[in-house]
Amino acid sequence: MQKIKFFEGGGVPLEMHKVKIVQKLDLIPVEERVKAVNEAGNNTFLLQNRDIFLDMLTDSGVNAMSDNQLAAMMVADDSYAGSETFYRFEKKVQEVFGMKYFLPAHQGRACEHIIAKTFVNPGDVIPMNYHFTTTKAHISLMGGSVLEIHEPEALEVESTSPFKGNMSIKLLEEAIAKNSVPFVRIETGTNLIGGQPHSLQNLKDVYKVCKKNNIPLVFDASLLADNLYFIKTREEKYKNTNIRDITREIADNTDLIYFSARKLGHARGGGMVTNNQEVFNKLRDFIPLYEGFMTYGGMSVREMEAIAVGLEETMDFGMISQGPNFIEYMVNKLKAKGVPVVTPAGGLGCHLDAKKFVPHVPQTEYPAGALASALFIAGGIRGMERGTISEQRDEKGNETFANMELLRLALPRRVFTLSQVEYAIDRICWLYQNRDLVGGLSFTDEPPILRFFLGRLAPVSDWQKNLAKKFRADFGDSL
Ligand code: F0G
Repeated sequence: MQKIKFFEGGGVPLEMHKVKIVQKLDLIPVEERVKAVNEAGNNTFLLQNRDIFLDMLTDSGVNAMSDNQLAAMMVADDSYAGSETFYRFEKKVQEVFGMKYFLPAHQGRACEHIIAKTFVNPGDVIPMNYHFTTTKAHISLMGGSVLEIHEPEALEVESTSPFKGNMSIKLLEEAIAKNSVPFVRIETGTNLIGGQPHSLQNLKDVYKVCKKNNIPLVFDASLLADNLYFIKTREEKYKNTNIRDITREIADNTDLIYFSARKLGHARGGGMVTNNQEVFNKLRDFIPLYEGFMTYGGMSVREMEAIAVGLEETMDFGMISQGPNFIEYMVNKLKAKGVPVVTPAGGLGCHLDAKKFVPHVPQTEYPAGALASALFIAGGIRGMERGTISEQRDEKGNETFANMELLRLALPRRVFTLSQVEYAIDRICWLYQNRDLVGGLSFTDEPPILRFFLGRLAPVSDWQKNLAKKFRADFGDSL
């Protein structure tokens, strides 16, 4: 969406779509919110949708779909092998990325599983601009390790750097010289540092180093839509280049692209695409074993039709602008009110800085998790902890403290209205005023792998009751 000027000045981000189907929402009273979050073990993944007002957990698989996507689902060609739908999907991926060989997979982590199984051996090191939870887990399971090589500003919560997702070229060269490196990975729209983009120039520089050393560059394109928007709006050289051409230039500077179509393409699925037949052959053997036959890869045909249309729609600058514009609005408003947020505004969502929001909660008591629990109590808003709970303990069982303690408030694309965003801002501001009331959490059940999904925690004191009491005192009988 190009920024549209308002006659009276100021202005707000404007939706370039209209709502055709709605889902009713409920907001349960604060006392019930305390109960619900405790029944969920203070883990927002374990909340039930019926207790949630604004679901800002993720944009994964929950972006609004277009009329054309829904229409395409109706003409899906259902068959185990040789479905026409698959060939349409494959053709669209080939056309968008200009790459020949496509492999379907049921979601992003399925691609990561197969890539790790194919390329990672014990002792290998995989340099990347930043890890994603499932990426790291799959690499670790194969005995490899992740090496994050970014510029210092990547971890500066407040910054003016337009491309915090850039990889450090100097550190990449050092990493390659010192380690056994089966591939280098760039994650576009870098998720865990706040949906921050890399520049196209940086990708080209990384690719040059990879080529020189004969190491493949793997590109996680799950959050490509946001990163495309930022390349066009923040990278001077590309401001007049259309989205389709930027996408092609990205693909020309990578060896293997994989994506979660729960994000890219606004449906539910995934896939990998490359121009390298040898790489394709190696990966291909795992598809029928883990995903399903080559012409569906674990996806329903309806989803494949929807992804194909969604990919095409992602080439539209208006379509991919809505997320970043809404996020920028939310981030800037919170910042103006003194609430600590990740800046500059990135893609994916608005990220609250829990270290600054609740500085009295030590990292051993999971400040970002505590803030997630507190915001649900304050407003029925479900965010996602992206801090120490999302890390894994080391081999000795010690905590790996996260570099940043963030509460991610995802803005699934085209789902929320601006008044819902305003409501979220209001409740966050109230919580910030009452931040001293927020206390920590401790695990009562801690799974060894990806503990953030299923782990259960309890408050370290009765802070939640006091928070609810203050809510009642300030809001009366309002929900
Ligand atoms: N890579 C990135 C950058 C992701 O953000 C995700 C998922 C994946 C890979 C894995 O894809 O979920 O389809 O298996 N991110 C979701 C999120 C879960 O909420 O940020 P998947």
